[in-house]
Amino acid sequence: MSTSAPEAVLDATASGRGAPRHVAVIMDGNGRWAAQRGLPRREGHRRGVEALRRTVRAAGELGIGILTIFSFSSENWSRPPSEISDLMGLLRRFIRNDLVDLHESNVKVRVIGERSTLDPSIAGLLREAEDLTRDNTGLVLVVAFNYGSRQEIARAAQRLAAEVAAGRLAPEAITAELIASRLDAPDLPDPDLIIRTSGEQRLSNFLLWQAAYSELVFVPLYWPEFDQAALEGAIAEYRRRERRFGGLAAAGAGT
Ligand code: IPE
Ligand code: IPE
Ligand code: MG
Repeated sequence: MSTSAPEAVLDATASGRGAPRHVAVIMDGNGRWAAQRGLPRREGHRRGVEALRRTVRAAGELGIGILTIFSFSSENWSRPPSEISDLMGLLRRFIRNDLVDLHESNVKVRVIGERSTLDPSIAGLLREAEDLTRDNTGLVLVVAFNYGSRQEIARAAQRLAAEVAAGRLAPEAITAELIASRLDAPDLPDPDLIIRTSGEQRLSNFLLWQAAYSELVFVPLYWPEFDQAALEGAIAEYRRRERRFGGLAAAGAGT
C-alpha cells in the first residue's frame, strides 16, 4: 500500500526457507471487538478494514507470495440487512479508496466466490480491481467474497458434469486433480497456513478442498486487533509445525 516499498513485495513463486508461500486468513471477531467497547458492529467492521490494510502491507514486507482473505461468506447473507449493507458499503469504499494504492504497490488482486448473483455494481468493482492489477507481479491478494467452499466445489462439479453430458469427458477420468482444476482459482497453490482470529476454531466453509494439508493457526485476537506482530507470531507457529503430507517426517518435513 502507499507506505510499503514495492520492491519488498516478492514474486508469488518466492518463499524463504520454511516460510509459507500462501497464507489464508479468516478475519473474524469484528462484532465482538465492537461489542466489548460498547460500539456498533459496523465500527468493528470499519476497524477491520484498517487491520486488513496493515495485514496486506505486512504480508508484502514478510515476502508472502499469496494472501487470501475471507471477506464475506455465502452464509453471511443471513445477517440483518443493515449489517449486510454496511459490509457491502465497506467493500465498495475499500476498492474505491485502496485500489490505486494496491496497484502502485504491485499487488495483484484476484477474487474467488460466486459472482453471478452479486449486485452488478459490486461485481463490476471486483472485475475492475482484477483488470487493473492483472499484470502486477507482487503480492497476490485473493479476496474471497460471497464465497463458500461447498458452493465452489458444487460449481466445479457442475462444470465437469456439463463436460460429461456433452460427451467430452468420461466419468472415470474425473480425478482429484481435475476437480481442483475447475475450482475458482485453480492456478494458485493450496494455502500453507490458514489463520483464524477471534479464538473460534472452525473453517466456516472456507477453502475446505484446498485446506487438506494446510496448517491451522487460531489467534486469540479479534480481527481489528490483528497486526504485523500477530502475523509474524502465526508464521513462527507455522514454522514450528512438522508437515508430513501423509508421509514420514524425514520425507515430508519442509517444502
Ligand atoms: C468478521 O467479523 C467479519 C465478517 C464475517 C464479515 P464478524 O462480523 O463475524 O464478528 P463476530 O464474529 O460477530 O465477532
Ligand atoms: C467466517 O466468519 C466468514 C468471514 C470471516 C467472512 P463468520 O463469523 O461468518 O463464521 P461463523 O458464523 O462464526 O462460523
Ligand atoms: Mg464471526
